[in-house]
Amino acid sequence: MRPAPPSPVSFDADGLPRSRRFGDVYFSREGGLAETRAVFLAGCGLPERWTGRRRFVVGELGFGTGLNIVALLELWRANRPPGGQLSIFSVEAEPLGADDARRALAAFPEIAPVAELLLSQWPGQRAGFHRLEFRDLGATLDLAVMDAEAALAAWDGRADAWFLDGFAPAVNPGMWTDALMALVAARSAPGAIAASYTVAGQARRALAAAGFALARQPGFGGKRERLEACLPGALAPERARPRVAIVGAGIAGAALARALAVHGVAALTLDAAGPGAGASGNVAALVTPRLDAGLGAAAQLHAQAFDRAVRIYQAMGAPIVVRGVLQLEAGPRDALRFAKIAASDLFEPGELVLMDAGETSALLGEPSPPGLMLTRALVVEPAQILHVWMPDVLPGAVARLERREGGGWRLLDANGLLCIEADLVFLATGADLARLWSGAPIQPVRGQLTEALGVTTSAAAWGAYVGPTRDGLMFGATHDRDDTDTAPRAEDDQRNLAALSARRPRLAAQLAGSPLAGRASIRATTPDHLPLAGALGDGLFVLGGLGARGFALAPLLAEHVAALALGAPSPLPAPLAAIVAPGRFAAKRQRIASRTKAL
Ligand SMILES: Cc1cc2nc3c(=O)[nH]c(=O)nc-3n(C[C@H](O)[C@H](O)[C@H](O)COP(=O)(O)OP(=O)(O)OC[C@H]3O[C@@H](n4cnc5c(N)ncnc54)[C@H](O)[C@@H]3O)c2cc1C
Ligand SMILES: C[S@@+](CC[C@H](N)C(=O)[O-])C[C@H]1O[C@@H](n2cnc3c(N)ncnc32)[C@H](O)[C@@H]1O
Repeated sequence: MRPAPPSPVSFDADGLPRSRRFGDVYFSREGGLAETRAVFLAGCGLPERWTGRRRFVVGELGFGTGLNIVALLELWRANRPPGGQLSIFSVEAEPLGADDARRALAAFPEIAPVAELLLSQWPGQRAGFHRLEFRDLGATLDLAVMDAEAALAAWDGRADAWFLDGFAPAVNPGMWTDALMALVAARSAPGAIAASYTVAGQARRALAAAGFALARQPGFGGKRERLEACLPGALAPERARPRVAIVGAGIAGAALARALAVHGVAALTLDAAGPGAGASGNVAALVTPRLDAGLGAAAQLHAQAFDRAVRIYQAMGAPIVVRGVLQLEAGPRDALRFAKIAASDLFEPGELVLMDAGETSALLGEPSPPGLMLTRALVVEPAQILHVWMPDVLPGAVARLERREGGGWRLLDANGLLCIEADLVFLATGADLARLWSGAPIQPVRGQLTEALGVTTSAAAWGAYVGPTRDGLMFGATHDRDDTDTAPRAEDDQRNLAALSARRPRLAAQLAGSPLAGRASIRATTPDHLPLAGALGDGLFVLGGLGARGFALAPLLAEHVAALALGAPSPLPAPLAAIVAPGRFAAKRQRIASRTKAL
């Protein structure tokens, strides 16, 4: 188990937070909130510069206690342009724990209600991007827990304003390098303003070299001067609000509807057979990450998506059947694999707990192998999630998409009749993706899940899995490649029972002879076992290929796809966006073809 890192902050006798590593204070002794307002908010021309804007993007170097962001959100709350959306991006190499942040922010009762909105969903310490959502304010925050240079290199946004708040250049030159300021400029919208409390030579030189025009302004408190740095250029006119259609009402379609609604965009969702008719309609689903000891981009994607899914389902509350899933060792290499993953920084400290055979046996009530307890994993009820995110689904089997003159799409049924027209179309049709996207790299894998009533158990997985439902338990599931028949089979319930008895023989014996009900549906898998999430071109987008983990993957990937479609910053770091890009197989084929030609 990874221990929590030591707190990066100590508090002075008068309660001022100070960095243990840099010795510098997080905010001014002469009034942190007043300094934030003078240096960063007014320094970036806020709130005037977001007047009339549909979207405004703010970037920050140095998240710290979150004070700047709370002050920004408070200003946005009071001066939000009608229907406006605020996207915030911040970076932090040494994140504070929630208790330290609460202690630091307690000094500012004036902004306590907004501070509580941040503290109640305080980001964790897992390496990578963390998305937070302030639904009532029309705002999101992506916090990159990593070094600033890596964070900016991985971010796809373009900020209208920057808060440069990375401790004084004298004690922390790494936050003021030429390379970092060049990245700030590259991740800026035309006319962006970067504000800082320091006018130190290194900061000025680096910003000027990156193309900013500098202006010194009277400083706050004891500081003589502060800096406002401006990029040339004017903003392009904003796009009109698009008409949006989602095809497919499984977890992918539902998560897209949710993600678009967060941006204030209402979508029409169509399904040929009703919500949850496909793979997303099982009685319950596990929300678990793929445990990938490679610790590379695929492992990071699964860890980030899992974290996001858990936070979103937790905030909903009602769909959760149980918390905690025990992953049992299924082979000789699992002990090492589990230990490596539990010690990594992909997950929150303490959330993955190695258990010996005695502990797992005590938990499951029968002799069991050692395992890894995924303390934050969930069993959820899909029907509730789909209903909350997609209360209205239109019946409609889309057979064809036709380009409209002047942009957008016509969605037609098998008789050529128009279902709807839309500017943006999201394909979320699961295993049937190739019908609307010819060449979709999808391989179908039939799966049957078996349900039994009146008996319950803790959730455990080992390749196969078992978990509680509201009325009993479920176990499975079968994997039959290229089989697309969805009629339940009695022999598949027996195959599931045999798989259960391999790790839970007592439970399997208890179930033998009880009535069992099977449900079969089709998983959509891809050649590299990674999802398809992104743009297909001309206003067409896809979220699919979710394989056996749609409930863990869909919420974050839907936020990514919605961001791409609406021109908002993505919550996914660029290297993770690249491995789910839907064009990756075609691009690879093209690379191989041009190499072969060159030979
Ligand atoms: C037996 C089994 C057990 C599983 N257990 C889990 C689990 O515990 N945890 C987990 O995370 N994942 C699990 N999965 C995987 C998970 O179910 C899938 O990853 C997920 O449901 C895929 O969601 P989707 O929205 O992409 O596709 P689907 O849920 O299949 O939805 C696609 C929808 O599109 C509609 N549609 C298709 N074509 C058209 C069209 N042309 N026009 C209109 N509508 C159309 C369909 O009617 C369907 O409703 C399991 C899968 C199986 C088979
Ligand atoms: C002055 S504090 C930020 C104060 C913060 N804006 C607030 O409102 O509380 C500077 C922050 O930058 C972070 N930091 C310093 N060097 C960094 C780096 N190279 N990459 C990312 N974060 C860094 C520190 O850990 C610290 O939290």
